[in-house]
Amino acid sequence: MSTTEKTTVSFILNDLPQTLAVNPLRRFSDVLREDLGLTGTKVGCDAGDCGACTILVDGEQRYACLTAVGQLEGHNARTVEGLAKNSDLTALQQAFLDEGAAQCGICTPGMLMAAQSLLDRTPNPTEPQVLDALSGVLCRCTGYTKIVEAVLKAGKTSSSEPTPPSGSAVGSRMVKVDGKQKVTGEEIYSADYAPKDSLWLRAIRSPHPRAKFTLAQPEKVLKKYPGIIKILTADDVTGNNGFGIYPHIKDQPVLAKDHVRFRGEAVVALIGERENVESVSEEDLGLTWEPLEAIRGCDAALSGKLEPVQSEIVDNILAEGFLKKNDVEKAFAESFAVAEGVWTTSAVEHGYLEPEAGYATKIGQRLEIFVCTQSPYMDQTEVAQFLGIEPGQVRIITSAVGGGFGGKLDISVQPLVALAAWILGRPVRSIYTRPESMVSTTKRHPVQMSARAGCSKDGKLTAYEYHGDFNTGAYASWGPTVADRVPVHCSGPYFVPNVLSQSRALLTNESPSGAFRGFGTPQAAIANDALLDVLAEKIGMDALEFRIKNALRKGDRTATNQLLENSVGQVECLESLKSRWVKWRKQAEDFNQNNKNVKRGVGCGSAWYGCGNTSLSNPSTIRVGINGEGKLTLYNGAMDIGQGTNTIMVQICADALGLPASQFEYVMGDTDLTADAGKTSASRQAFVSGKATQLAGEHLRGQIIQLAEASENATLYLEQNGSVGSGKLIVEDESGEHVIVLADILPQTNGDVLTGEGTFDPPTTTLDENGQGSPYATYGFGAHIAEVEVDTLLGTTKVLRLAAAHDVGKTINPTQVEGQIQGGIAQGLGMALMEEYVQCVSENLHDYLMPTVGDMPEIEIILIEDPEPLGPYGAKGIGEHALIPTAPAILAGIKHATGISIRHVPATPDRVFTALQEAGK
Ligand code: FES
Ligand code: FES
Repeated sequence: MSTTEKTTVSFILNDLPQTLAVNPLRRFSDVLREDLGLTGTKVGCDAGDCGACTILVDGEQRYACLTAVGQLEGHNARTVEGLAKNSDLTALQQAFLDEGAAQCGICTPGMLMAAQSLLDRTPNPTEPQVLDALSGVLCRCTGYTKIVEAVLKAGKTSSSEPTPPSGSAVGSRMVKVDGKQKVTGEEIYSADYAPKDSLWLRAIRSPHPRAKFTLAQPEKVLKKYPGIIKILTADDVTGNNGFGIYPHIKDQPVLAKDHVRFRGEAVVALIGERENVESVSEEDLGLTWEPLEAIRGCDAALSGKLEPVQSEIVDNILAEGFLKKNDVEKAFAESFAVAEGVWTTSAVEHGYLEPEAGYATKIGQRLEIFVCTQSPYMDQTEVAQFLGIEPGQVRIITSAVGGGFGGKLDISVQPLVALAAWILGRPVRSIYTRPESMVSTTKRHPVQMSARAGCSKDGKLTAYEYHGDFNTGAYASWGPTVADRVPVHCSGPYFVPNVLSQSRALLTNESPSGAFRGFGTPQAAIANDALLDVLAEKIGMDALEFRIKNALRKGDRTATNQLLENSVGQVECLESLKSRWVKWRKQAEDFNQNNKNVKRGVGCGSAWYGCGNTSLSNPSTIRVGINGEGKLTLYNGAMDIGQGTNTIMVQICADALGLPASQFEYVMGDTDLTADAGKTSASRQAFVSGKATQLAGEHLRGQIIQLAEASENATLYLEQNGSVGSGKLIVEDESGEHVIVLADILPQTNGDVLTGEGTFDPPTTTLDENGQGSPYATYGFGAHIAEVEVDTLLGTTKVLRLAAAHDVGKTINPTQVEGQIQGGIAQGLGMALMEEYVQCVSENLHDYLMPTVGDMPEIEIILIEDPEPLGPYGAKGIGEHALIPTAPAILAGIKHATGISIRHVPATPDRVFTALQEAGK
């Protein structure tokens, strides 16, 4: 049967009979989404690896991407749209909402269907049954803990607070304001919508890491495939054919011209009817390659043997970071004990389950781009510069974002759909395939690092020295930021009087390395914690006690000589783990007495992380408005990528304004409607945009109080859609009730009659030539202890339990903070034990291993609240901090269990097994 031949297929879908004239070989996921408009079923891989497309067929789990629609003939299919009836959520959906089981929500439909298949058969399942049922669906955000809890609690009482009363939103377990659409499948992600008449765009990408190329016959393609409207090449770029994060570095071409610098680089874009666009081959295009020897790895980058990756940077050193505090050589010479070592880490894929997608459309002399992004305002500037138009001519409208973790800070589909739509004057959409997403987007930097640490006889750290070469790939992306951030953080959350640290971001012909939760700090923490353990052992001190003794305290100065005056909860984090540490270590040692081949161990890891950009202004502006009918809207440009800014900003604004959170509506990330709240990166949104939100709420409250001529501590009530067709604000104070009829106030251009605005830019200073100064306004702190079990015959490691303590300043929403920590632990566990992106080897979710529900340990979370005076209600960030201590704790656990130090991460079974053999174990 040809791919266009159609037949009739009849089946039941969500209790309704369906008869479709369709090619029976088409993927059912595609038919659901494109033909039937049921976009609740998500596509993360199209290969049976991620489970995002899980549906039920005759009550059994099926991957819709691997199910041909013809196979449904006579069967009964159910999708997420078939769960809720008359907008009443099922007990399972309600439990997902209440427990915070959906973060970004892209896995949620698949998870719900997998769980529903179990609950239909077993209404009160055991935890092992739940783990088994969910084992075929990946989640990259939650660490699975809250998903499992939700399935176990479906239909039972919850501790969530759907509508916290006025004045008590901050600190409550308020459910996500965008949660309902995530559990019903109604949320619109980037691949879920495009205008009906959109053209498809497909990029042709380099299969070589370094090559010259020629394109001989594009005109033949246009003849052979009448559905192809346009073939874009570098010559079609109307502005600057380069993009990048920094205003002064636009080194990555929108489309490569003549030669490519990494496997996956775009060289040509085909635009037209989907089927034609997907059929064109390289041979059709006359695309010929002359492969060149590629620079792979840091040593090759520095060897000078090959032509530099970018001709203007002859030594391949893109950026360097440096920090010098006092005299490390002298301090090492005087130290009682010194530990040193070298480590390497691998490239890590972000693994968000939503591949990049979006569309652009030209409206008059403006361009609108609907896309998943972490940084709409940066996207706006970027698109304008390569189109050669004004930023005001570009509107970025953000979709819901199915995970980001730093990977959606760089642009992906934006340049090509923008360019095509601008040239053609028609809407153009693009959806990356999973391999395309993996091969063309950024990774966590692989690093080669050496470090040494010294201490006195009584266990006080004396000196720390670090050198890290970060493989930043073919283009800059966030390489300079990593090079800047690592020297500041590499000596850990400890007071060290003498520090020398250097970092380099090196260009190679590998995938560009970019931003990934921690910006190089998680890699550096692996060396730091390993050295602290060796020092503690050398002086005969318990490793946790050693950390407590050296932990930064209020009044200490950091490696950059910054005085820490407030919110330094590291000691409390470590102290809170002490009883578990002692008990778990003893239990592990007892276990090992009685087991020959399977060994247990417990290790500790630490984190500190500056919230916001390093020594740079990074302001956020947030607005809140009320219209004449009393509609109260938070205009929030702080992108929610699953971490929950939509919800916590409402909580913060509600309390600042003095109205209940339930009365808020919100607009997120639309450059025409929301003010610039910067990027969702560097754990800055809760702290920076959160403060801006608090100020916006207070600003609006101040205006209301003034209008009503009421006293400062008045109580506000908002009557929405009031009886006279107008909303009313009732302001009550000791002198009585003051009524503001909102329709009596002249509306502003956006229709609101009152607007509050807040801007916050955290105070920092630049770093001098020795890296000294105050690069961040505040830091978050944390520590994890992990118990692992190592099978010494197989080399496999299982994390059994993990306790995580974090100082978050103030918990705005405990459910969301816990979710961030659990998700960070899952990513840290993946980084420690399994995740390794290798070109040509692990460019899909089958070969690239990420933690599944069965890999997760039992997790305990301890929240420490040492308030940050600058933060909203004392809050600071948690996004990056959550991940940093996990890998060091797991690696230390392996050492405690077996005595071996793993120096190349991840600690895969082959590496652990080899290390055991080499150590004669
Ligand atoms: S999209 Fe079907 S399993 Fe990933
Ligand atoms: S909530 Fe599961 S992938 Fe984001």
